[in-house]
Amino acid sequence: GIFTERQEALVKSSWEELKQNILHHSIRFFTLIVEIAPATKNMFSFLKDYDEIPQNNTKLQFHTVKVFEMTYESAVQLRKKGVVITDVTLQYLSSIHVPKGVTDAHFEVIKEALLKTIKEAMEDEWSEELGNAWEIAYDELAAAIKKAMRDAP
Ligand code: HEM
Repeated sequence: GIFTERQEALVKSSWEELKQNILHHSIRFFTLIVEIAPATKNMFSFLKDYDEIPQNNTKLQFHTVKVFEMTYESAVQLRKKGVVITDVTLQYLSSIHVPKGVTDAHFEVIKEALLKTIKEAMEDEWSEELGNAWEIAYDELAAAIKKAMRDAP
């Protein structure tokens, strides 16, 4: 695969660490998303009717976990065989995101928020190499989802 063992290990260990405090990081992740692109607030059912980011919302946490976890899984797959994600999952993700009006540009917003959340969360343990590993894994995943969205019926 295009991913090294070391890159996979960096993504894995930081994801394990972030998971320990996922509620906190979820709120930070969505705070950053809305800061970077305020219009996205109206896309999410759990944000649109609230003035502030909800502090204990299962759906908010779920979307965060999905983005982080699937990026981690993408890293593992890239290391193993270079295939990021199954067609069934891609169809499922397209069927959710296309009707919500998600565009390619939104994937850049999520990426920026993801990388910043990780940087803040890892503090002294963060490195350029760690950030780059997450970025590569995310880019591959996002490319696959964006393509599936374009090809969606
Ligand atoms: C919903 C995953 C990127 C906006 C979902 C759901 C999943 C998911 C699994 C279903 C959640 C549920 O059933 O409650 C992902 C992954 C992404 C990604 C893995 C990228 C790696 C994005 C982007 C946007 C977005 C870039 C736009 C900013 C949404 C919205 C929903 C949703 C609006 C509906 C959630 C709601 O309103 O309750 N996503 N997503 N997603 N996603 Fe994503």
